[in-house]
Amino acid sequence: MNSAQIKTAWRSPSNIALVKYWGKKGPQLPANPSISFTLDKAYTETEVEVIEKSEEGVSLELFFEKERNPAFESKLLSFLQKAERGFPWLKHQHLVIHSSNTFPHSSGIASSASAFSALVLNLCSIDAVKGGLSDKDFYEKASYWSRIGSVSACRSVYGGFNLWGQTPALNGSSDEFAVNIDDIVHPVFKDFRDTILIVEKGKKAVSSTMGHALLEAHSFADLRYKTGFQNTELLLEILESGDLDGFVKLVEAEALMLHALMMTSPTPFILMKPNTLAVIEKIQDFRNQTGIHLLFTLDAGANVHLLNPGNQDDKVQEFIKNELVGYCQNASYLCNAVGKGPEKVK
Ligand code: PMV
Repeated sequence: MNSAQIKTAWRSPSNIALVKYWGKKGPQLPANPSISFTLDKAYTETEVEVIEKSEEGVSLELFFEKERNPAFESKLLSFLQKAERGFPWLKHQHLVIHSSNTFPHSSGIASSASAFSALVLNLCSIDAVKGGLSDKDFYEKASYWSRIGSVSACRSVYGGFNLWGQTPALNGSSDEFAVNIDDIVHPVFKDFRDTILIVEKGKKAVSSTMGHALLEAHSFADLRYKTGFQNTELLLEILESGDLDGFVKLVEAEALMLHALMMTSPTPFILMKPNTLAVIEKIQDFRNQTGIHLLFTLDAGANVHLLNPGNQDDKVQEFIKNELVGYCQNASYLCNAVGKGPEKVK
């Protein structure tokens, strides 16, 4: 391969937020810090080939699941035009991008986090060939540009547990990029599972972008941001001490607050479905009866993420098969665990 033509490929996962980012304080900047863990199996694999050209202005062809996709192409083009600021060599490149997901398209799983982080990691790899980046700079840059692409994607560039947003509770935290916090996380959390029950497939009635915007005029906005800061601080303590009871209480409260904000916004909307609530009730009953630390969290959608420690997973999977599958569309659910993070495959 000559230097005018470089091909790289990355596999990058989705992430699930424990303390939620909901509301912006500027373009692509969070009103409060958030904490997530990276999934192991729900990922996007993206290959990028860059071909040098003489004309000015980045251009691309995008193949999603082997088919040319004009809608994604125009979205990516506007991102790549912005990214010329951070990757100046893009100005004279044509990109051929092949991308696919391991999880079903429009299953309600946040695919933009894995898609943008996979794309940006490729740009950083090409950047490293062209200019050279240290490991820390590499991932900070990847997180920064993933955020510009699709906000909470910035938390997907590392494995394990990650924090995004500046907080006095963590030195080195930033609104501009996420940081990995695995070194403070107790071993009991490192093997956590996330089983995603697909209560409803397909596009959401209200996008996250609209949801964030609605918060600006929300009378609870300031209280939410304050709670987001407090819960970040509290979750850091919980993650460090291994306090499973505290974890259950805080993570479920965060999920319910997210949906309460939607239901009370100036233009109210409800993303939960009757089956979402039925599943939540079942989870809480199961926990009360068995003492197993099974809890739920929710994204901006109807699907339910079931979280539990790895050593209790046999009983949880049995419970899902016996009691929860009936609430899932086409009996579908996805089993994930805390993942090791993105991987360079080419
Ligand atoms: O990155 P966005 O704009 O899709 O927002 C993510 C919003 C939540 O998934 C609800 C919370 C989060 O922090 O991931």
